[in-house]
Amino acid sequence: MDQCRFPRQCGSRLLPAGGIGSNRQARIWISQSERSAVTIKPKSLSSPKQSFGENPVELRESRNYTKEYVKGFVEKWDELIDWKNRAQSEGDFFIQTLKQHRARSVLDVATGTGFHSVRLLEAGFDVVSADGSAEMLAMAFENGKRYGHILRTVRADWRWLNRDVHGEYDAIICLGNSFTHLFAERDRRKALAEYYAMLKHDGILILDHRNYDRLLDNGFSTKHTYYYCGEDVTAEPEHVDDGLARFRYRFPDDSTYHLNMYPLRKSYVRRLLHEVGFQQIDTYGDFQETYQDEEPDFFIHVAEKSYREEQEEFEA
Ligand SMILES: C[S@@+](CC[C@H](N)C(=O)[O-])C[C@H]1O[C@@H](n2cnc3c(N)ncnc32)[C@H](O)[C@@H]1O
Repeated sequence: MDQCRFPRQCGSRLLPAGGIGSNRQARIWISQSERSAVTIKPKSLSSPKQSFGENPVELRESRNYTKEYVKGFVEKWDELIDWKNRAQSEGDFFIQTLKQHRARSVLDVATGTGFHSVRLLEAGFDVVSADGSAEMLAMAFENGKRYGHILRTVRADWRWLNRDVHGEYDAIICLGNSFTHLFAERDRRKALAEYYAMLKHDGILILDHRNYDRLLDNGFSTKHTYYYCGEDVTAEPEHVDDGLARFRYRFPDDSTYHLNMYPLRKSYVRRLLHEVGFQQIDTYGDFQETYQDEEPDFFIHVAEKSYREEQEEFEA
């Protein structure tokens, strides 16, 4: 098991308290240039270019994500999501949802650069940060240190989560449109079954994805308010069909990266969640309980493991 087990109290606070996105005067935000100046770059990791082969729209493989999150893209990821703006647009949604379900221990299975892991640590949760990408975890670890936390990181692919991560959790989060990286239905079912198995009997899974129904049915539009909050950064589809949404991410320095993703429909994800055993699934649109289906940019599913003997038939 490739897991760092540092006690949380070892982390000295590098930045003043106040939380990500806090408006408090005391909060110091490290600029992108300062951040790169202090980044300790892991020597052992190479920095290949993204490669999607001769015909990029034909590459539809669950395992390809490690080749998509190359070092250059990972270093740009925080420019894309913009921690401060993202924290403000999400508000306390995840923290409140976890508290309502009395969650204390959280497994972040799609840690990325650590945005939610750090937020939840700052809110007092006990967090383990997993991801299948070593590049992402290295960046998350550095980001954690900047906020005064030593992240407990584990490199783990969701499809073999139980093999590589130990313990049971009150909550599992799979956020930031991550589940969309799985292309085969058996991979999606396996990953959900792994999440389910790692939850306590009354645990919850929070999983989100882009509103692909709208993209597939009506074409692309975005409020540019949630998730990808960076200014002067664009995230737009280059190709969309029933089995692929290929997005292009363009940065102010003209660098361009791509991600190939599976366009998940809302009712399909709800059905899969139900079929692996989650009975109660609440789906929010851009963090709101009520919405018209075509309005939100993102859907967030909160799925409960608690078994209800008398529950009526599920409606996707
Ligand atoms: C779109 S990023 C989101 C990162 C972060 N949650 C955020 O919101 O910024 C997707 C993340 O999922 C991870 N990932 C994709 N497929 C995976 C898999 N099969 N197992 C483990 N991690 C995976 C990637 O390495 C990447 O860090």
